[in-house]
Amino acid sequence: MRPKLLVIFLNHFAVANDLLSKRSRIYSDRPRSSTVMFGKLVGMTTLIMWCGSEDPVFPKFRRMFAEVFGKGNLDEHSSIVEDEREKFLDRLSSSPGDFYDHIEILSESIILRIAYGYQLSGKDDKFYDLYRKFSRVLTNEVVAQRWIVDYFPILQFLPRWLPGLRFHKFAEEQGRIRDDFNNMPYDFVKQEIKDHRAAPSFVSNWLLKSEQTEADDTVTRYVAAAMYLGGADTTAGFLKAFFYLMAMHPEVQAKAQAEIDAVVGVDHSPDITHWKDLPFLHALMKEVHRWQCIVPLGIPHRLTEDDEYEGIHISGGTTVIANIWAMCYDEDQYPEPSKFNPERFIPDPMTGKVQQDPNDYVFGFGRRICPGMHFANRTLFLMVSAILSSFTISKCLDDAGGEIEPKFECFGQITRHLRPFNVRIIRRK
Ligand code: HEM
Repeated sequence: MRPKLLVIFLNHFAVANDLLSKRSRIYSDRPRSSTVMFGKLVGMTTLIMWCGSEDPVFPKFRRMFAEVFGKGNLDEHSSIVEDEREKFLDRLSSSPGDFYDHIEILSESIILRIAYGYQLSGKDDKFYDLYRKFSRVLTNEVVAQRWIVDYFPILQFLPRWLPGLRFHKFAEEQGRIRDDFNNMPYDFVKQEIKDHRAAPSFVSNWLLKSEQTEADDTVTRYVAAAMYLGGADTTAGFLKAFFYLMAMHPEVQAKAQAEIDAVVGVDHSPDITHWKDLPFLHALMKEVHRWQCIVPLGIPHRLTEDDEYEGIHISGGTTVIANIWAMCYDEDQYPEPSKFNPERFIPDPMTGKVQQDPNDYVFGFGRRICPGMHFANRTLFLMVSAILSSFTISKCLDDAGGEIEPKFECFGQITRHLRPFNVRIIRRK
């Protein structure tokens, strides 16, 4: 009998592309939630990212996302992104030492406005706190399998008053946070509509467009929560890495600044019309995506029927993980992969060749590919170009004028972030 594969990791782009993209029809499901605790008791399966590929909600959710974040619809968000960018640059000017917090506020503010028309007031805002609480629930889920009920599912039916049973209480707390995350911003919009003062947003547009059935209402609620969840953390992770890398590589920073100054001038920030004119900036962004790899293992896919690949049998039901991290650090594609070197993506003057574009895989694969990818790259382009145009980031100095290395320490389960670190941020003009 052939051994049954339960989980496979795809470490090479070519294989991931063959299976997850070219055979996307059968490789686009998500694993059923792995644990009793998080799947059944906390109810994390309501997250739209975990929705099965054969669930009728799946195409609907992808369509709703495409209407907001599809390549052709991004201009609609320009005023929000540019407005939040200005606020961010002001905050950075007045308290550069708090850049790490400013990044988180920026990323959350943009997505909250697009999804819910909600203006985040800062770190004291209830939604700022809610996001952090919900991230902790997710983290707990990823390090699950530590609850006895996951090993003996029958225990879930024991009465909750039995002494020593803590899991019911834990599940209830986590479930409440999940509900708040799905409901609080959504209910805010409903109230704003009732009060005739709702700002245009994904949710208000849907609610005002037509009479919603209860099922529509639920889908809209979960899709909006997926925007919030998927959109805030990822762009923040990228920008944190960008600040670190600029402090570590002044020569790269100076080259990008020189390109921006030459193309845009020194009096104003680049806008989206400069997209095609800044090749080095694009190379720099690709290298940040590759070097830091924000979502190292993507989100697991699930194969829905038996398959055969290069003589290997893969059973339906197998969990398939794209090891994006391994692709970013593949020595065959990227000589000296640990080196931060945007020149990889500038055509070689002799051969015209460039190394593989990480955008081919850092946003995932096939039918599950990140639906926010174009929006993310466009937002990041606007942020990175404006930061470089207005500021110089460098290492902090000690009392004797010596440079202090910024701390490099990462955390996170699904997304990978740098822990807070210090850099020096000085206005250029
Ligand atoms: C640097 C920015 C980002 C990176 C690196 C990133 C990466 C990813 C990856 C690797 C996946 C898994 C794809 C797969 O299963 O094959 C994913 C899924 C997803 N992302 Fe992103 N993402 C980013 C930004 C965003 C933004 C801005 C949004 C929302 C506006 C978003 C929303 C989502 C959603 C909803 C999914 C789940 C898709 C599904 O299950 O079908 N992401 N992302």
